[in-house]
This record gives sequence, structure tokens and C-alpha cells, in this order.
Amino acid sequence: MGNLVSEPNPKPDPGKTTPIVPDRAADTAPVPQGAGDSTPASAAEAEQMLQEAAKSGTNLDTIVSRLVIEQNLATEDEVRHCMERVKQMREENNQASLVQLLLNNEYVTKRQIARLRQSIEAERSGQKIPGYKIEKKLGAGAMATVWKARQLRLDRDVAIKILPRKFTNNPQFIERFIAEGRSAAQLNHPNIVQAYDVDKAGDLYFFVMEYVDGRTVYDDITKHKRLSEREAIEIAIQIADALQHAHSKGLIHRDVKPKNIMITKEGVAKLADMGLARAVSDKEMAEAEAGKAFGTPYYISPEQIRGERQIGPPADIYSLGATLYHMVTGSVPYDGPNPSAVMHKHLKAELVPPDHVNPKLSAGISQIIEMMMAKDPKARYQKCSDVRADLLAVRDGKNPVIAHKDWGVDLAGIAQAEAAAVGEIAAPAATPSDSFTLGALFRQPLVILMLVLLVVSIAINIILASRS
Ligand SMILES: Nc1ncnc2c1ncn2[C@@H]1O[C@H](COP(=O)(O)OP(=O)(O)OP(=O)(O)O)[C@@H](O)[C@H]1O
Ligand SMILES: [Mg+2]
Repeated sequence: MGNLVSEPNPKPDPGKTTPIVPDRAADTAPVPQGAGDSTPASAAEAEQMLQEAAKSGTNLDTIVSRLVIEQNLATEDEVRHCMERVKQMREENNQASLVQLLLNNEYVTKRQIARLRQSIEAERSGQKIPGYKIEKKLGAGAMATVWKARQLRLDRDVAIKILPRKFTNNPQFIERFIAEGRSAAQLNHPNIVQAYDVDKAGDLYFFVMEYVDGRTVYDDITKHKRLSEREAIEIAIQIADALQHAHSKGLIHRDVKPKNIMITKEGVAKLADMGLARAVSDKEMAEAEAGKAFGTPYYISPEQIRGERQIGPPADIYSLGATLYHMVTGSVPYDGPNPSAVMHKHLKAELVPPDHVNPKLSAGISQIIEMMMAKDPKARYQKCSDVRADLLAVRDGKNPVIAHKDWGVDLAGIAQAEAAAVGEIAAPAATPSDSFTLGALFRQPLVILMLVLLVVSIAINIILASRS
């Protein structure tokens, strides 16, 4: 395989040798620990690696071309161009393979090819799950890989999450994985990705669930930078409803985040991975995510970080609040150079109010988010039905009712201060509480009315005083 000629790109600039698609996500994606991690020294070694994974007798070119396109490593045109060239070279009695031409053209890197080995192995093992035909990879997270599959007996599409072997050595983990999978399967709600089954085939553990033909909220944020307030509220209402249902059955999600909210083609929001996070401790989960470009624990509640034993509905409310914050501002609530810096901020740092990041936001949505993200779980909403009620109010152009209660106290203070000097009125607002800002205060009709009354009363007093 030594006499390969580097091929020009099939693009208008024939002299160009730099990769056309240098910044593909897979280049920066985390490399899972395991056998397929090392970067092969040469194209021949890379190819041999894949051939071993695929087992001899399989047509490697066919597998590689499908995976490279599916995983967005190269375009269909690029792959077709290489395939044609392979054919042509073979006709000229030159040895050629798709892997080598893809590498020579710099359409893919050796590292990316090395990672394909894992996909090939997983596909092979996935095909061993009786009753299912694995069709394609849907994605991979820190813990597992998700495949689209056909459930043969019921003739329906499903998504299967297959645990990597490294988890299957831990009996405690497996026990929890199965227990949580079973309880998640008891839930039935239009806004929860339906869990169908959790099982074992050989030494593989897998979780079968409803296949969602759509995208994640994370995809939407990445694509559009942020969502409109209206869109974000609609999603959060549905997820609050989903969580309310799960909480009523005693299940806490523990990993609510944009990547775990899927949106169907019809625009229905569905909460994914219900129950799965419980199989790992919260600390383990945070650590599992460490080092991922976007996977630092941006949404985890302070009590989960502290490793508290009693994690209740307010933990999910916090994470939904952080998710909503990200959706409407385009920024995560707390950022930092590493996971521990981010976690420290969840515990200690003051939240920048969402309407300071995006001034177009209504005061109502900011109040709701701030209450959802209060550091003390007791200061948060206690029930998702309350979150939902406030979101519905803001969606309908009204003030939030529950987040507004704090305001009631402050406004009473302001009313008492009416008798005092004008300057004193601003005082409560100048020390922003957890749930309101000065700008938001002066957008309240009641405050405006009181100010007008105060000015009129001062004016009358002045007139009366000058007459006497
Ligand atoms: N039920 C499903 N239907 C369709 N696609 C799914 C389904 N569940 C997951 N996916 C896809 O698979 C990808 C990987 O999911 P997974 O839960 O393994 O990781 P994640 O939630 O994206 O990330 P993390 O590991 O950080 O939690 C998701 O981003 C999504 O695109
Ligand atoms: Mg997930």
C-alpha cells in the first residue's frame, strides 16, 4: 500500500491541501477512555485497526464511508470522490483504500479514523442485541452511546443507550442502572422520552427508549445562540409538567440540561434520560463531564454539588432554571476555566440577573429564573406545578404570582415609606434582593401609581403650606 498519490480536492481550488472541513466537532470531542483511543502512526496502521474491529471478510470501505458521512467527518461529495478514485486506482492495478485516500486528502484525521474503531465495535456488539436491528448512531455522551434501532417484534423505531464495558464491571452501578430504568419505565407522559426496557445481552447493558425524531435544545442554542423568551417559556412549561409528573411518582431527574431536552419535529419538548442519572452519584456525574468542551456541570444544583443525601424536586427546579437561563440569555449562568470553578460559583457566586445579560427579557421571566436558581433549596419553588403556573402567567403577559410574592413584601415597605421623603423610596431597590432589580421595579404598574400619588401629595402639601 505504498504507492498512493495525494489527491487534489474536488473543490474549485485544486492546489489547496488544507482540510476543507477542519473544525468538525469530532476533532474536539472528548475521547472516551478505552481501546480505540491511541492515534495510529500511519494510514496503514489506522486501516488495520479498523479492519480488526470490523473482522476480516467485511468490506471496510462500505462501513467507513457510511460512518464518516453519518458522523459528519467528511461530506458525501468528499467520500464519493475518494471512492471513485479508489476504484480507478484499483483498475490501474494500484493498491488503494478509502481510509488512505480520506487521510491523504486530509478530509479526516488519523485520530478521527481511530475513533471510528469504537463505532465499528459498538455496532458489532449492538447487532448482538436480540430482537433489535441497530441502524445508526444517534450520538454519544459522557456515559454511553445512543443508537437508532428497529424493534423487530413490534416493528417500531427505538433509541437504545448502550453502556460502555467500563461501567459493566461495577455491580453497584448496574444495580442502580436497572432499578432506575425500571422506575423510569413506569412513567408515562407526553413530555418524557418513554423508557421501554432495560436489559442485558451478553455482557452488554442497554436501555431501550422512545426514538425522538428531532433535535436537542443544546443543538438549538448552539445554532441560534439563544432562543426567544416565548420559545424558551413554551419548552420550560412542558418540561416543568414532565418533572411534576416524575416527582409525583417519587423520581428526581438529577440531570436536567439542554442536551437532555429533545424537541420533536412537531415542536413537542421531551425530557430524556429520566432516572438514568441516579445510577451515578452526582459527584461522579460532575467528574464524568469534566474536560468536555460543553459538558462542565453548568446546570447542577448546589445541594448535588455538596453531595447531600436528600435530593428533592428543588434540585431539578434549579437545573431547569439554569437551562432556562441559558436558553434566554445564550450564556450559561456560571462559567469558569474548569468544572470545579463552575461548581464553586454555583455554591457561592451571585447570579447575574438574566435581564442584565439580555435586556429584552421581561421582568417576569427574570424573577422566575432567579427564584428557580436560589442557592438555598428552601428559597426556590418547591413544586414544578408552581413553576409552571408562573411561566404560564408570564407567557400570558401577566406577572408571575409566586415569584411575585417577594415583591409583595418589598412593595409594602415602599408603601410605608410613602410618608417619608422621595429619596427614601429608592432605598429598598438599591439593595437588590435575590429576585428583583431596580429596572424591573420601575416597570411595575403599582410602583408607578404610587410614585404619581406621592408627587401629587407633595405638590398639594407645598401649595397648602405656601397659602397658610
Ligand atoms: N431517545 C432518543 N431519541 C433520539 N435521539 C436521542 C435519544 N436519546 C439521546 N439521543 C441523542 O443521543 C445523544 C447522546 O445522548 P446521551 O444521553 O448519551 O448524551 P448527552 O445527554 O447528549 O450528553 P451527556 O453525556 O453530557 O449527558 C443526544 O445528544 C441525542 O442527540
Ligand atoms: Mg442524555
